[in-house]
Amino acid sequence: MADLLLGQVIRFQGDPFDNPDAAQPLTHGAVLVDAGRIVAVGDASQLRAQAPTARVHDYGQKLISAGFVDAHVHYPQTAIIASWGKRLIDWLNTYTFPEEMRFADRAYADAIANRYLDLVLARGTTTVCTYATIHPESVDAIFTAAQTRGMRVFAGKTCMDRNAPEGLRDTARSAYDDSKALLQKWHGQNRLSYVITPRFSPTSTPEQLQALGALWREYPDCLMQTHLSEQLDEIAWVKDLFPQSRDYLDTYEAQGLLREGAVYGHAIHLTDRERSRLVEAGAALVHCPTSNTFIGSGLFDMALARSLRVGLATDTGGGSSFSMLRTMAAAYEVAQLRGQSLHPSQLWWLATQGSARALRCEDKIGNIAPGLEADLVVIDLASTPAIAQAAARAEDLWQTLFPTIMMGDDRAVAHVWVDGRPLP
Ligand code: GUN
Ligand code: ZN
Repeated sequence: MADLLLGQVIRFQGDPFDNPDAAQPLTHGAVLVDAGRIVAVGDASQLRAQAPTARVHDYGQKLISAGFVDAHVHYPQTAIIASWGKRLIDWLNTYTFPEEMRFADRAYADAIANRYLDLVLARGTTTVCTYATIHPESVDAIFTAAQTRGMRVFAGKTCMDRNAPEGLRDTARSAYDDSKALLQKWHGQNRLSYVITPRFSPTSTPEQLQALGALWREYPDCLMQTHLSEQLDEIAWVKDLFPQSRDYLDTYEAQGLLREGAVYGHAIHLTDRERSRLVEAGAALVHCPTSNTFIGSGLFDMALARSLRVGLATDTGGGSSFSMLRTMAAAYEVAQLRGQSLHPSQLWWLATQGSARALRCEDKIGNIAPGLEADLVVIDLASTPAIAQAAARAEDLWQTLFPTIMMGDDRAVAHVWVDGRPLP
């Protein structure tokens, strides 16, 4: 039986970075869902007439949106989120690597994978693109947890063959073999996609990067995710480790790890050559604003969104929040520090369509349009007294929405639909 959701509806008919009118809110809107898909979106009275037998879910003044898409996370870092006082390299060695070691235990990996997906679903995030650990079982754990919930999830085994502790290192050969076996097992099953995942150049030898480049050529429709130019100390380290390379991006480019389908996290301190190569190659960048302030990395240049696919992400657990609302707020603040004011429609787009485009799945998720998969979030625009009193002054949807973007948390997430079904 079809379901008809009634409320205010936010959807995009273009990119608000190109066209300020790309977002077209419907005040008395409706979304018709059947068999996991969005069948129609439009005016409430019109869709009620079109689908008189559909089960009606009247959400009143609440806002119906595509579910959030978090384009760069490390689910194994769930339990070490908000760890104090370190910058990137020390933070990895002090907090991250010891925690990732624990994922050799499949039961622990299962427990964290389930905990993590429940935390993000409660915040309206219906798709994530995650790094696992070097343990193949950590990939099995997150894909199994995603499958149980019917979620569209991207994940890959993190590969590291140097500059990581004993127990967290693979080799060029085993990284290739294990990644290939996981890819063959999971890629395209239900709503799951395997992502080839070298952690970052400092923890991979050129031989490992080359092996993963070769794997990517065998499976060109997969994504490849890694980190790029996050912190200045890291960039200096890459220069020492790769004296032959022109810049950080070149360490990937030289091994066949730069083309469409490449998804680079952070990408803050880019040279002119790196920027133009990223644009030419059609790569995607992921902005992780709460992480970039929390770990002290720097301020991403949102002007890049005019020439590249740019997604938005929490970067759990370098980021300090599981919430894409909090992440939109941080993106707004970071842009302000660079003299750019992001419009609420641009922030919302980044957290839905922008991230879906970065992951090259905008034909499936990240918007409300006929034919897309029905992953939806229903937002209460007056979820706390502080938000309600600010929203009460608003004269249009954007003014109503902005206090929720800046101050909202899981209390703003009234309902979540995954694959055409409401979560209990
Ligand atoms: N660079 C390499 N690994 C990581 C990680 O786990 N988190 C962040 N923020 N940056 C990284
Ligand atoms: Zn990361």
